[in-house]
Amino acid sequence: MPKIKFLLADGAELTVEAQNGRTLMETALENSVPGIIAECNGSAACATCHVVLPEEIMSALGPISEHENDMLDFAEASRESGSRLSCQIKVSDAMDNVSVRVPAA
Ligand code: FES
Repeated sequence: MPKIKFLLADGAELTVEAQNGRTLMETALENSVPGIIAECNGSAACATCHVVLPEEIMSALGPISEHENDMLDFAEASRESGSRLSCQIKVSDAMDNVSVRVPAA
């Protein structure tokens, strides 16, 4: 089971065990990670699941879809180079020990 470290907006850290195949958003909700709201329940229609990922993991995730790319422009926190919608990211072993930042909104 990959371990995911969430870096919270208040500076706290929360490390959780994730299941492969679940989305990063589902993992966050199941572990009550503050700052991940997921209003649209994973439909890529709200951007309230915005997270910022480290550059080193981006290539393993594959390309961002045009829809996700467009939706990130509506995220409350400023978009960054590592910004993604966590509902569009499937957890895999490649994400073990990755640090996922939850931006302040
Ligand atoms: Fe709404 Fe991800 S949960 S965009």
